[in-house]
Formats: sequence, structure tokens, C-alpha cells
Amino acid sequence: MRVVILGSGRGSNAEAVLRSQADGKLGAAKVAALFSDRPGAGMLKLGPAFGVDAVFLDPGAFKTKLAGEAEQTYIREIGARQPDLIVLAGFMRVIKPAFIEAFSGKIINLHPSLLPAFRGLAAIRQAYDFGAKYTGCTVHYVTPDVDAGPIIDQAAVRIGEGETLEQVEANVHEAEHRLLPAVIARLSRA
Ligand code: GAR
Repeated sequence: MRVVILGSGRGSNAEAVLRSQADGKLGAAKVAALFSDRPGAGMLKLGPAFGVDAVFLDPGAFKTKLAGEAEQTYIREIGARQPDLIVLAGFMRVIKPAFIEAFSGKIINLHPSLLPAFRGLAAIRQAYDFGAKYTGCTVHYVTPDVDAGPIIDQAAVRIGEGETLEQVEANVHEAEHRLLPAVIARLSRA
């Protein structure tokens, strides 16, 4: 199963996936390439470290989506890797129907809440500020409705009395680093 990972930030989840692969725990999945919409994304540094292509793709003029030429470039460059699975691991742009249709049923997203609660940006903070006692993370299929596609799996995280936002964030990220590689491995065996 050829896997392509898209991300905009630190890349800690892409790293967790690559570490699982290096440890032989990613089932029949193999990461073919990493793509980022930010030239300075930490995720791109993982390429040389793990011997995987890591490529910046210009996202175009918009801040929150891929549109026009840029969207076509993404479809072409990702398509060239012939992916069986596209993983959005902290890719902070809305994916529009043309992209979704180009890779129908093959795009999954990692979201840092127990969906359908706390969709959208800053989901860990949303849960914390709301006073939720549990939050967590979700891996789901991507559909045109943001953060609303069919859920593949989730992990719950307890928000303890008196915990700081930073502690909760660290706990959610730890849960993500376990959940995402496990889901990819499971899909590779399906
Ligand atoms: C992760 O917490 C992921 O769930 C979140 O971005 C972070 C990326 O971290 N994604 C979203 O909020 C998507 N709406 P990373 O770059 O260290 O993997």
C-alpha cells in the first residue's frame, strides 16, 4: 500500500508513521512521499532522515484552501506517486471536491478531537475551554464536509482536574502518534 503524507507543520505524526515503518509495524504500508504547503515545515526535514522524498508544493494565493492551478499541481504531483492512501497529518487547508474526487475513498485525515465534537481549528483548545472531561483524536475519511467524513477509529484522552492546556495537548499528541500508524497498518491489511 503506497502512502503519501501531507502536512503543514511540525510533522510529529508523519514521524510516528515513519518510525513505525522503520520498526516493521506499518503492515503492508510504505510511505512513498511527504508533501507540504509550507517550505519551512518541520515535516520536510523528515525526508532526508528517513530516506523518503519530501517536497514543498506551492499552495497558491489562498490561505485556507488549494484552488485553481495549485490544486491541479497537487493532484498531478500526488497522482504521480500512485498512492493507495493519502494521509492528511496536520495539513491545514480545506480539501475541495476536485481533489477528493481525484483520489476517491483514499484520503484520510487525523483530527485532534473526538469527532463530531470540536470540528475545525484549535480543536484541543476548544475541548479544553469547553470544560470537556474527555477529548482525544479521530482518523476519518475525507469528504467535502470538513471533519465530518466516516470515522475509522478514535482514541480518548482524559482531561484531568487542574491539567494545563499544554498537558492536554501533549496527551492528545501522544494518542495521535499511536492511533495514526495503527490505523494505517490496519488499512494496509484490509
Ligand atoms: C495534529 O495534532 C493534528 O491532529 C492536527 O494538527 C497537528 C499536526 O501535528 N490537525 C488538525 O488540526 C487538522 N484540522 P504534527 O505536524 O506534529 O503532526
